[in-house]
Amino acid sequence: MAVPPEFIEDLRQRVPLSDVVGRRVKLIRKGRRHSGLCPFHAEKTPSFSVVDDDGFYHCFGCGVHGDAISFLREMDGLEFMEAVERLAEMAGLAVPRTVPQDPAASRQRKAALDILEETTLFFEDALRRDDGRDATRYLKQRGLDSAIVKTYRIGYSPRMGLRAALKDKGFSDEDMLVAGVIRKSDRDGSLYDYFRDRVMFPIENRQGKVIAFGARALGDAQPKYLNSGEGPTFSKKAVLYGWVQAREGLRRNLPLVVAEGYMDVIAIHHSGAAAAVAPLGTALTPEQIALLWKLHDEPVLCFDGDAAGQRAQTRALERILPLLEPGRSARLAVLPEGKDPDDLIAASGPEGFRKVIDTARSLVDILWEQSQAKFDIRQPEARAQFWQVVRGHVRSIGNNHVRSAYGDEIESRIAAMRNQIRGISSMVAPRRASRPQTGLINRHRAVVALLLAHPSLVSANFEALSMLDSGDQSLERLKKALIDAVIRDPDLDAAAINYHLQGSNSGDVLAAVTGDDMKARLPFDPHQLSNDKAAIHLDELLQLVGGKSGLFSQAGTPKK
Ligand code: UTP
Ligand code: MN
Repeated sequence: MAVPPEFIEDLRQRVPLSDVVGRRVKLIRKGRRHSGLCPFHAEKTPSFSVVDDDGFYHCFGCGVHGDAISFLREMDGLEFMEAVERLAEMAGLAVPRTVPQDPAASRQRKAALDILEETTLFFEDALRRDDGRDATRYLKQRGLDSAIVKTYRIGYSPRMGLRAALKDKGFSDEDMLVAGVIRKSDRDGSLYDYFRDRVMFPIENRQGKVIAFGARALGDAQPKYLNSGEGPTFSKKAVLYGWVQAREGLRRNLPLVVAEGYMDVIAIHHSGAAAAVAPLGTALTPEQIALLWKLHDEPVLCFDGDAAGQRAQTRALERILPLLEPGRSARLAVLPEGKDPDDLIAASGPEGFRKVIDTARSLVDILWEQSQAKFDIRQPEARAQFWQVVRGHVRSIGNNHVRSAYGDEIESRIAAMRNQIRGISSMVAPRRASRPQTGLINRHRAVVALLLAHPSLVSANFEALSMLDSGDQSLERLKKALIDAVIRDPDLDAAAINYHLQGSNSGDVLAAVTGDDMKARLPFDPHQLSNDKAAIHLDELLQLVGGKSGLFSQAGTPKK
């Protein structure tokens, strides 16, 4: 299936690189050059340059460099042939098929695949035999049964015997070396089995063919995991572990989780809570992100709750933003500190894990919060810098539609933040002139909205709340029900309270307080506020509606 090199050269001539890149990146022409924001790293000023005459792009920021084909492979996760097809399509040409251009290389690749399959069978068999006893015990102790062992084709590599077995099947040492299952000793040039006394995890490509292995030490032997080297069958940046099994899981409409390790993927699949894949010991690459989106529009990425996990989140965010497309996204879930999905499932079962996935946050929320966390936003300079940083991230989004949707969202959050700082009184400003009463009732509703999100504030403000009367009966009933519920059970959290009220009260008034109309009116999202911030807003609101006497008790007094 090789393509004549002249054809590829022809394609390069016919399809301007700026057309190919321009589908993903907004480019501005500057003489012979086009420039834009680099889609391969987050940046605020364009350092990505495309020269049509040469057919190459280059980023002066992160150093990426390549041509139309590498761009399509990196950005769209296409295989080489798929990229050629895409270019041919753009040029309106058909791809000429010829005999393989390098028969030796293609024979070797095929032999390597045969060897890897044969080796997998050998390891699977060894696990069932006597010397696989420790490995079997180990897997059992980690909670894996024979069905899951079969699904992932888990095996055991004995201390010796693979090379001889492969030789019996007629494979040459040279092909075994290329396949990466044996190595040559640096000391005396002798050949030895590369994987010895380890639990073997075959790594499969999207066609389910074994292309490499991950191998875990049984005890504390180092390294804990040993992986196949890169080779003609295997490029680790373009592979996700567990892809085929995940695709099966997704037929059952499960969420898709991206975990870190082999055991996590297997434990998640085994739990039935989700389908799972993992990159192989690296941060997600653009190719892997493209692979994820072949499986699911919104995969959930799991991160450890510690500082390293935070950094990994930021990095993942920076890698995904440039690649977002309409309808394609990801969510980020934070695991309890020090636990990986495997540990969590062992400790809290599939339900416990499912809960963590269900609390995964959207990219835009993470973008906002992670950026904000770096600044002391009480200081105006820091606030300005925060806005700059978060806007920079938005600009890194390659797709025009997604970028402008993110821009709208972020700008409205920035506007809300500014309003909040200027004073809560601006909340209903636009309506005040024509319908003064609306403003007042909405402030009363805002009080209840805050309390619903932060029930713990009820007791601290009990007196003020009891004195308050909005004049709206159903709102008063809701407020009373809320206060009663908190008094009865002070430990109820927001979710429990809302659930309780939904059952007991008229849904209409609850909707008026928590619905979209109200959300649009509030300069903050009550559920996003910390308890402290919510307390400050509540205080201000209570003063405005006259439930509390204070320095600013006169309604409408702007706060500084
Ligand atoms: P961890 O050390 O967190 O291991 O590495 P784990 O997945 O929890 O493994 P168990 O539960 O102890 O069996 C996470 C991932 O990083 C890669 C592997 O992909 C591993 O699954 N890794 C780790 C390596 O490639 N080599 C190593 O030596 C360690
Ligand atoms: Mn683990």
